[in-house]
Amino acid sequence: MARTFFVGGNFKLNGSKKLIHEIVERLNESKLDSNAEVVICPPATFIDYTASINKKSPQVQVGGQNTYTKASGAYTGENSVTMLKEVGADWVILGHSERRAYFKETSEEIAEKTKFAIDNGLKVILCIGELLEERKAGITLDVCKKQLEPVLAKLSAQDWDKVVIAYEPVWAIGTGLAATPADAQDTHKEIRDYLKEKLGESKAESIRILYGGSANGANASTFKDKVDIDGFLVGGASLKPEFVDIINSRS
Ligand code: G3H
Repeated sequence: MARTFFVGGNFKLNGSKKLIHEIVERLNESKLDSNAEVVICPPATFIDYTASINKKSPQVQVGGQNTYTKASGAYTGENSVTMLKEVGADWVILGHSERRAYFKETSEEIAEKTKFAIDNGLKVILCIGELLEERKAGITLDVCKKQLEPVLAKLSAQDWDKVVIAYEPVWAIGTGLAATPADAQDTHKEIRDYLKEKLGESKAESIRILYGGSANGANASTFKDKVDIDGFLVGGASLKPEFVDIINSRS
């Protein structure tokens, strides 16, 4: 099955109005591969502004980097799904390894957020991936399965139409040491095979699995012929001009 190439830009805790203006204007003015779907995820404070200057919608969409499982109430510091949508987000990143590591989010909490986000109208970029010691111990797939299990338990088959999985080996994030395309492909295939077991062949074939971890303008095209790699979730390089090269890396 043909899956639409997807490129997410996760700005993390970076940017200013000026930088966001530069990034979005570059996307507005660049020729982007018409077969690519792009989602840029600025810090929540800049979502409104990002959406307001984006002229490439619907090809370029906007996302948040986190959300919560309550619609409103006394939850200081949180942003609800409805609020993210109201300021222009269609997507949200959930389960990023930085949320898991620094904010101690568990796979169960991430599953709950994923279900709540989908039920309330956001699409989800769901991140999974192993630590270096887990890779060295040969348990990469076990770790990914454990992260996916609670999500599989909560989501209906239809819910999966609203999810893109980002496989991000933690050792490759922000290190300049991307996984080799062959290694990434092996893990993506194993993840898809697991999804086939759980969701059936045709649903699993329809789910996009992105690679994340030091993807950049120079290495993106080397992943091109890997059949289970459907795009990228890009951190650092999404703030730079090379983000356009990543978007155009399949054309
Ligand atoms: O969400 C994006 C990933 O954490 C990858 O970040 O491209 O800076 O390695 P990176």
